[in-house]
Amino acid sequence: MPSSVAKICLAVVLLVVSASTIAAHSGATGVVKERMILMKQMAKDTKALAKMAFGKTAYDAAAVRQHAGEIEKRAGAAMTELFPAGSDVAPSEANADIWRSWDKFTAIAAELESAASAMAAGADQGPAAAKAAFGRVAGTCKACHSAFRK
Ligand code: HEC
Repeated sequence: MPSSVAKICLAVVLLVVSASTIAAHSGATGVVKERMILMKQMAKDTKALAKMAFGKTAYDAAAVRQHAGEIEKRAGAAMTELFPAGSDVAPSEANADIWRSWDKFTAIAAELESAASAMAAGADQGPAAAKAAFGRVAGTCKACHSAFRK
């Protein structure tokens, strides 16, 4: 897995993180709306990190720390608490497997928290290290979406 995620190219990352921000979810309310807002913010921070990791924008260690820190604080329990059982009703794109495989779901959310934390901690090591760290972050977005998002 880590070697394959390291090969994710910028175009794919941007597609993965933004695909659903294009779709309108104007009907969402309550906790579904809250988690969509959380995910959209995740996507913004992920895009900013991707651009620096892939050399599309100037590398700035302080900005890496900040964006990775934002992701870290929205991952783990902060994320999974926005998925109460049975909250997969339209317009949500959540898949009911979330509650059938809750341990796996929470493990991926925790992995994102630790990957983002590691990326923030390693920000001073420069672009090559950031690219590897970013691969781990983006890999968790992808792993969770492919298992748990419709
Ligand atoms: C532990 C699982 C999990 C992780 C990790 C995760 N997501 Fe999500 N994400 C979901 C689920 C489930 C949905 C669908 C939520 C819904 O529609 O109710 C979603 C939806 C989204 C959406 C669409 C929001 C909308 O308006 O409908 C975006 C964008 C998104 N995620 C980005 C990301 C990014 C970027 C990352 C990684 C930094 C990430 N996600 C990590 C589970 C996850």
